[in-house]
Amino acid sequence: MKGQDIVVTGGTDGIGKAAAIRLAKLGGCLLLIGRNPDKGEAAVAEIKRTSGNDAVVYLQGDLSLVKNVRHAAAQIRETFDRLDVLVHCAGNIFPRQRTLTADGLELSFAIQFMARFILTDQLLDLLRAAPAPQVLSVAGGGTIAGRVDFDNLQGEKSYGFTQVIKTTSRACDLLTFEQIARYPDITFYNYGPGLVRSGQIVKNPLMRALMNTVGRPFSRSAEQAGDDIVALLRSPRSSGFYVKSAKPNDVPESADPASCKRMWEYGEAVVAKASGRRAPQ
Ligand SMILES: NC(=O)c1ccc[n+]([C@@H]2O[C@H](COP(=O)([O-])OP(=O)(O)OC[C@H]3O[C@@H](n4cnc5c(N)ncnc54)[C@H](OP(=O)(O)O)[C@@H]3O)[C@@H](O)[C@H]2O)c1
Repeated sequence: MKGQDIVVTGGTDGIGKAAAIRLAKLGGCLLLIGRNPDKGEAAVAEIKRTSGNDAVVYLQGDLSLVKNVRHAAAQIRETFDRLDVLVHCAGNIFPRQRTLTADGLELSFAIQFMARFILTDQLLDLLRAAPAPQVLSVAGGGTIAGRVDFDNLQGEKSYGFTQVIKTTSRACDLLTFEQIARYPDITFYNYGPGLVRSGQIVKNPLMRALMNTVGRPFSRSAEQAGDDIVALLRSPRSSGFYVKSAKPNDVPESADPASCKRMWEYGEAVVAKASGRRAPQ
């Protein structure tokens, strides 16, 4: 990874930070994105200290808004003239109540799907300027993700923790399928880390206690997930789905081309609406 230009969204905490530390140790030039600037600067300082690599910068941005994702893409262009690796890890937001962003999007869907859709699209030419570009999305994991109900993608009909996790994960699965089909010159990984002791799971004191006791054998550390991510990126594999390892897994069920195309067009329509344009026909 030495000298490779790498963006890690959500690289300031949890799985993203664990991956960033490892990538910095291998000599990558890193740009990390997160919302909280104090946390971001602290993460950069920690990564520099533990890796001995000073090529780590932080970009503040709330990627749940379309205009912010575009702004982040513009900032990335100012930092790098090519992009070897894009890791989508920002997310893990599943509010109890259905919450809408200023774009009118359900918050988890906005960050877990739309940000990934738009940022990858905006950085395609930068990725193509790299000799072997790779895009890795940390998602729910294809084999466990469930089905997408296109009428309830943003919890319009019913909203709940499980529903939103399954829906956003599955939407990411379909996105990966479509990206693999559309952009064969770029390697796309959809990586499911399993149940990880990070993010919302450990912010809740009861869950933290459970995860560190009876739940420990069934869960993994952020560092283990970071190891998988680096194993994938370090010796490039074929595009596809990887769950809890750097070995390819069975593709998710029911990823028919029509659903992948529909998911893609849904993303395009959201972008067009946020830009005040008509959706492509
Ligand atoms: N933990 C699990 O068991 C698990 C399982 C499957 C998949 N995943 C997925 O893995 C990813 C990382 O999860 P994690 O457990 O490592 O979460 P985490 O520890 O909470 O870290 C989330 C990261 O995303 C950033 N972030 C969150 N919302 C953002 C926004 N709107 N704009 C920009 N950055 C944002 C956070 O930075 P700020 O706090 O500064 O915003 C932080 O750096 C998520 O997409 C999650 O869905 C996690």
